[in-house]
Amino acid sequence: MSCFLLNSSLGKKLVMSITGCALVLFLLFHMAMNLVALVSPEDYNSVCRFLGANWYAVVATVGLAALVVLHFVFALILTWNNYRARGTQRYAVTVNEPGVEWASKNMLLLGFIVVLGLGLHLCHFWSKMMFVELMGQHQNSLGYKPTNGVALIAFTFKQWYNVVLYLVWLAALWLHLNHGVWSMFQTAGWANDIWYPRLKCGAKIVSTLIILGFAAVVIAYYVCPCYAEAAFETLGDAAEACTEACCAGHAH
Ligand code: HEM
Repeated sequence: MSCFLLNSSLGKKLVMSITGCALVLFLLFHMAMNLVALVSPEDYNSVCRFLGANWYAVVATVGLAALVVLHFVFALILTWNNYRARGTQRYAVTVNEPGVEWASKNMLLLGFIVVLGLGLHLCHFWSKMMFVELMGQHQNSLGYKPTNGVALIAFTFKQWYNVVLYLVWLAALWLHLNHGVWSMFQTAGWANDIWYPRLKCGAKIVSTLIILGFAAVVIAYYVCPCYAEAAFETLGDAAEACTEACCAGHAH
């Protein structure tokens, strides 16, 4: 089995599709969890506490990191194998074939952008939350409790350049998911003439829902100071840090 997964092109695509499917499920969960920040800052922080440095959350984080690494490494191997297999033909296919979308030809590039954005995102959030707890500290570099996710959201999306960076990142993720979700089913052998258009449409709906859910939080916290204010009013420990770092520029 492991030989099949490692040695054949179909096996490698299967690894891509299984890891991709697990990552899409994570994104659906993460997006739904973030929507809580639009409804109740307190409840959002309760979820953050639950997903803090508890053993089950740490195990899930390690599993998630393994999925990302596997997905990325197999993408590199498949792209390299395809490149070598095309040999001297590789220059003959630069003209767009009809029906082949831009995203499907640029999945690796989109994947690089997604991973770069993820690095920035982990610096903004994970390094100031779970990592701080794992280091045994009770405050992060901004002066917030490491379980105070909503204060970090308010702080991050107060800066316009973070809003722009996240929206560009989300656009790349949308293109990547649009092709990736559909191609996951194609690898599993589901894409016949009847299912092809249905799966393409389903992939568009799933990726659009995920991206709109993430973007709603980014935009709401940037556009409405009331979100940040509500976050700081209801959360005791954030209120102190708010005066120094976050509320500058927001009218009270
Ligand atoms: C744009 C709106 C987003 C917000 C407000 C947000 C918020 C957060 C927060 C608060 C955490 C820290 C959780 C903790 O350590 O307890 C986190 C972690 C994380 N986020 Fe996001 N996130 C967003 C988008 C995304 C996207 C688009 C991705 C993936 C492409 C992503 C991937 C991750 C990962 C992998 C972690 C680490 C999870 C873990 O520790 O197990 N996030 N995010």
